[in-house]
Amino acid sequence: KSELKTELLQLERQKMADLIEKSKKLAAYSAVDENLKPNHKVIGIGSGSTVVYVAERVGQQSNKSELVCIPTGFQSKQLIIDNGLKLGSLEEFASIDIAFDGADEVDSQLNCIKGGGACLLQEKLVADSADNFIIVADYRKNTGILGKSWTKGVPLEVVPAAYNKILKQLTELGGKAQVRSGLPAKAGPVITDNGNFIIDCDFSQVEASKVKELNDKIKAMVGVVETGYFVGMAQKAYIGNADGTVSTLK
Ligand code: 5RP
Repeated sequence: KSELKTELLQLERQKMADLIEKSKKLAAYSAVDENLKPNHKVIGIGSGSTVVYVAERVGQQSNKSELVCIPTGFQSKQLIIDNGLKLGSLEEFASIDIAFDGADEVDSQLNCIKGGGACLLQEKLVADSADNFIIVADYRKNTGILGKSWTKGVPLEVVPAAYNKILKQLTELGGKAQVRSGLPAKAGPVITDNGNFIIDCDFSQVEASKVKELNDKIKAMVGVVETGYFVGMAQKAYIGNADGTVSTLK
């Protein structure tokens, strides 16, 4: 009996995983199909598992040989190469026509939490350089208010020497902060592509109208390189729903 229960549970989990995967693909394909225009030649490709489908769709464009893609990290670089796209850099292109990226959470005003994959600094550089910044995500990320989901709060990239001071300051600001560690934990802190640490800080739920104020306070702490709050940067978010539809948030 218990074997049957375990099997049913596994089937249920697989069904859920398939649904999430389908909704990621749906969001990514819709976002590319509706927003990538013939005059867009420099494209930002973000990080994470949803962006895999963005790179796949961009790689299917008939004019792909004319496109240059700017990555937000190592994984993203690999995605660009694997899909036969041309790799560029922010050093070569000061502005990007359109950038697509995933998100850990999106609120009602399109503020996002990003940085689950520790690439938030490059992601923000690319988003900031882009004329159009489009979020792609599955339905679990559409939380309405930031801080509602299962994530550990907002990721912050900090200079290693400043981590302890910043942990104290974040606690004083009302957050529950911890340095992100690698796997296994005894391997020590996660080191970003820029040689910094990541602190995850849980501020519980933050109203959309308060995100900017909180972000400004964190950014003012000496040693904070960048935060995973993307305030008012996205023009649209494509959310793949569990019922096979896509919602566009603007
Ligand atoms: C990485 C990110 C990702 O875009 C974010 O974590 C979403 O990832 P996924 O598409 O796998 O859910 O910000 O730093």
